[in-house]
Amino acid sequence: MKVAPSILAADFAILAADVERVASVADLLHVDCMDGHYVPNLTIGPPVVKSLRKHTDLFLDCHLMVDNPGVLLAAFADAGADGCTIHIELGDPRLLFDEIRALGMRVGLSFEPETPFQAVEPYLADIDLLLVMSVHTGFGGQPFIPEVLEKVRAARAAIDERALPVEIEIDGGIKVDNAHLAVDAGVDILVSGTGIFGADDPAAAARAIKASGAGR
Ligand code: DX5
Ligand code: ZN
Repeated sequence: MKVAPSILAADFAILAADVERVASVADLLHVDCMDGHYVPNLTIGPPVVKSLRKHTDLFLDCHLMVDNPGVLLAAFADAGADGCTIHIELGDPRLLFDEIRALGMRVGLSFEPETPFQAVEPYLADIDLLLVMSVHTGFGGQPFIPEVLEKVRAARAAIDERALPVEIEIDGGIKVDNAHLAVDAGVDILVSGTGIFGADDPAAAARAIKASGAGR
């Protein structure tokens, strides 16, 4: 089981120090990029990824909640992003996938809680990462939506049946006490923001979340 702390819940003014607190436990760092259009919130982009890159060797897993990811992909790659995940709600993602790959990054596809698994299923062979949203994009600290677990199970079955090299990541409302639900449904990577950076001991919280998958 992999854990990906979401830096959305970190203190942006001391970002490197907060990342350092979880670095020994984290498998990836989840970077939520929001443009104020796709979602009603504005966060960070390539300049912050570039700064982070100087402080960590962790995989920088960039979740693009932006209306026009195409104009930003080269900047993310130049900044040192390792993967970019885009949303199916924007329309046919194939050209963007080609661009992400051509820039040397891993390809991710995400879908909102109300978007059915059937919307992403046709693209499973083209991606490295399927990001299942377990809250509506836009803000950290929202409650986990358990209904999305059905989509995780469907994705797990489809990926296993075709033996595809796709990891399933879940994002939103994951905490120490519910991570096992996602693990049981078949996820490979647990994203957690407030569940980690909101804890008194972020490394211990990340370790406990990761341990939900012990033995699986
Ligand atoms: C929401 C973001 C999430 C968010 C998760 O749009 O994609 O990554 O940081 O935060 P928590 O874990 O607090 O729900
Ligand atoms: Zn995210």
